[in-house]
Amino acid sequence: MSGNPVSDFDFAQLRRFPDIEAENLFAHDATDELILREAEQALALAGHGEVAIVGERYGALTLATATVHGLHGLRVQQDGLSGENALAANALRAGLRESYTSMPLSAELFDRVKVVLWQLPRSLDEVAEVAELIAAHANPQVQIIAGGRIKHMTLAMNAVLAQHFSAVTAGRAWRKSRPLLINGPVNDGTAPSFPRREFHADLDLWLCAHGATFGGSKVDVGTRFLLEFLPQMQPQTSFAIDLGAGNGTIAAALAKARPDIHVTATDQSAAAVASTTATAAANGLADRIEVVRDDALGTFADESAELILLNPPFHIGATVHAGIAHKLFIAAARVLAPGGELWCVYNRHLDYRSALDKLVGPTEVVGRNSKFTVSVSRKS
Ligand SMILES: C[S@@+](CC[C@H](N)C(=O)[O-])C[C@H]1O[C@@H](n2cnc3c(N)ncnc32)[C@H](O)[C@@H]1O
Repeated sequence: MSGNPVSDFDFAQLRRFPDIEAENLFAHDATDELILREAEQALALAGHGEVAIVGERYGALTLATATVHGLHGLRVQQDGLSGENALAANALRAGLRESYTSMPLSAELFDRVKVVLWQLPRSLDEVAEVAELIAAHANPQVQIIAGGRIKHMTLAMNAVLAQHFSAVTAGRAWRKSRPLLINGPVNDGTAPSFPRREFHADLDLWLCAHGATFGGSKVDVGTRFLLEFLPQMQPQTSFAIDLGAGNGTIAAALAKARPDIHVTATDQSAAAVASTTATAAANGLADRIEVVRDDALGTFADESAELILLNPPFHIGATVHAGIAHKLFIAAARVLAPGGELWCVYNRHLDYRSALDKLVGPTEVVGRNSKFTVSVSRKS
């Protein structure tokens, strides 16, 4: 694999910023390099505007393609806003901001494209949603060069891909990553199956979910516990924020339980934002739930809310990292008005109480079961 022009690309120039940066977190991985090497020939033959990049992390696939192959008009999909911002910052530094357009997962992303580079996700639903869209909208001759970490790839993934493509071939593994070469889209004209929707009779709620959404259309067990405390949360307030909204369970349950309340649901994930929007509509609550794609409340004014609800993530991709929860606590503290409340649910084994005390204000544990803790922190 040596002597390949991709090896001339300086991956070390890439940064994760404004996403969390830490010693064990990287802005590119072996899968990026492997995909680019496997795609060399296809990219050499591709024209401007004929390449889509799916699941881009921080810009490795996009900026190496633009640099090594001189291609522009790249269409790039990233679920997370912080990844999108990191790509923009990396592209600006490299003078390549004009080489690509960020796009949501949609028909337009794949419309007649001839090459797709794809960092495979772990979620089978996400694989299915992407595969369905490529098969329905890409050029019939499309070549898809996908890759992932071997430990996250399963035969079930191949089975999902085989429903949408006539050829799925595994390539040679390299540094714990494996490529999949996929072609022959099967477009049988069936209607898109996302967002999926599911009715939860116990909550009297429809939940909707695009493939990349945390928990799909299920109710998270921690969230279910948090919802038991809804009546105690700032009973007088008429405005609340659902921070990290996912499929919109919290926003919808709160709006349903309290007809006088307006909720802004926010998430950095494009799939979560689309899912929460669909959940609000499915429950007839769209007039009281506003949905915003935003990284850690970045667009919210200081001291503008009296109630924030949060079930924080503790993974970044496949890496367990407390930094993301702390980042959201700091964000909530800034946006809460004095006396405002941050309600959190988290795994019992995680000791977030001292961090909440320090970052937000006096924190009381109001509920504990065998798995979860629910706390309320009051902004002083
Ligand atoms: C554990 S899930 C909870 C989802 C949903 N609230 C529920 O209860 O099912 C955490 C959510 O936080 C979102 N998230 C992660 N980092 C974020 C950030 N920097 N800004 C906003 N949302 C973020 C994730 O996309 C995910 O949807």
